[in-house]
Amino acid sequence: MRVGIARERRTGERRVAATPDTVRQLAGLGLEVLIEHGAGEASGHSDASYEQAGATVVDPLGLGDLDVLLHVRPLEPETPARLRRGAVTIGLGSPSTELPTVRALRDAGVTAFALELVPRISRAQSMDALTSQALVAGYRCVLEAAMRLPRFFPLYMTAAGTIPPAKVLVLGAGVAGLQAIGTAKRLGARVSANDVRAASADEVKSLGGTFIHLDLDAADAGGGYAKELGADRAARQRALLAPHVADSDVLITTAAIPGRPAPLLVTADMVRAMRPGSVVVDLAAESGGNVEGSVAGSDVVVPTADGGTITLVGMKDAASTMPADASRLYAKNVANLLALMTHDGSVEPDFGDVVVLDACLTHDGEVRHPATAEALDTEGAR
Ligand code: NAI
Repeated sequence: MRVGIARERRTGERRVAATPDTVRQLAGLGLEVLIEHGAGEASGHSDASYEQAGATVVDPLGLGDLDVLLHVRPLEPETPARLRRGAVTIGLGSPSTELPTVRALRDAGVTAFALELVPRISRAQSMDALTSQALVAGYRCVLEAAMRLPRFFPLYMTAAGTIPPAKVLVLGAGVAGLQAIGTAKRLGARVSANDVRAASADEVKSLGGTFIHLDLDAADAGGGYAKELGADRAARQRALLAPHVADSDVLITTAAIPGRPAPLLVTADMVRAMRPGSVVVDLAAESGGNVEGSVAGSDVVVPTADGGTITLVGMKDAASTMPADASRLYAKNVANLLALMTHDGSVEPDFGDVVVLDACLTHDGEVRHPATAEALDTEGAR
């Protein structure tokens, strides 16, 4: 069966859905791999390296000839109609925001798998692209902050005097937040963090961070995810966080609620109350923002009352800023999910397997993911 990898078309996207390593893995499963000319260029993989791994480089990639299409970003709404009925796609689907593409996948009879829907169970960890890409993003947030902070992260005791360590506050201690905590600790900062999930306190402590306990009930939604706070509790959380924000040199926010806009954790007033020179990095800037005033892909300079400035960094395409390792992990996630469905060189999704079942977005002319099917119905009824 033929597996194709197209060059990613979205501006700012530098990752690729297969590396020479995963091409070898797929070829070993008896699959024929076609890759579009230049698909790996931005992540450091030449056409020649794919050819050496056993792929055929084509230009352009004929979508109608493929049994399987691997991708990074959600497909454009016009792409599914170019695939053959029954073709399989694997990649990020962003089902809650990409409804036109979901509709097109359904109508084209494509069997689409969205990596965001892979269940968070131990057996599926090697296919969990949310985790692998959040790891890259969390690390990168800290580097972005460190490069802009006009001070050191670590403590230095020198003959010319002592430099205290920078204080880093991380809000949202999921995969990206924990990675940010670990990275900031390795750079020598004094790190504290807060999250609304009950389990997060131990996770923060295990990385050497100090957990900030707020007088607020935990908000677990199950499956490792958080519940959205009601307006009153959200306002109370902001009030309780305000002194901690004001006391930090670096604030990194990574809070998210699956399928919902990011919660607003920090108001513009809270930012203005920070010390001049402080840096705020909002990883959630692309999905609504945890910090009021952040702009995805831009630095916003916020004046403080005493004439200084705070730099507010709106992260965009965070994982894509480190395309080599982000692609290495992502491509492995994709190949592992495809391997789960491949038997004797043939790709045959077994919907009796919970990983395959849950990850399926559309199949046989239907939207299989209940929340997305509901969102499409609601949209259709409007
Ligand atoms: P996420 O990207 O959905 O959210 C990021 C973080 O923001 C979460 O920790 C969430 O609790 C937090 N958050 C939401 N609202 C908040 C608020 N108002 N204030 C402060 N924090 C807020 O979550 P992510 O990073 O994808 O995963 C969260 C957890 O899921 C992990 O820490 C882990 O426990 C679990 N997990 C389990 C896996 C497995 O078993 N295979 C794999 C990956 C994660």
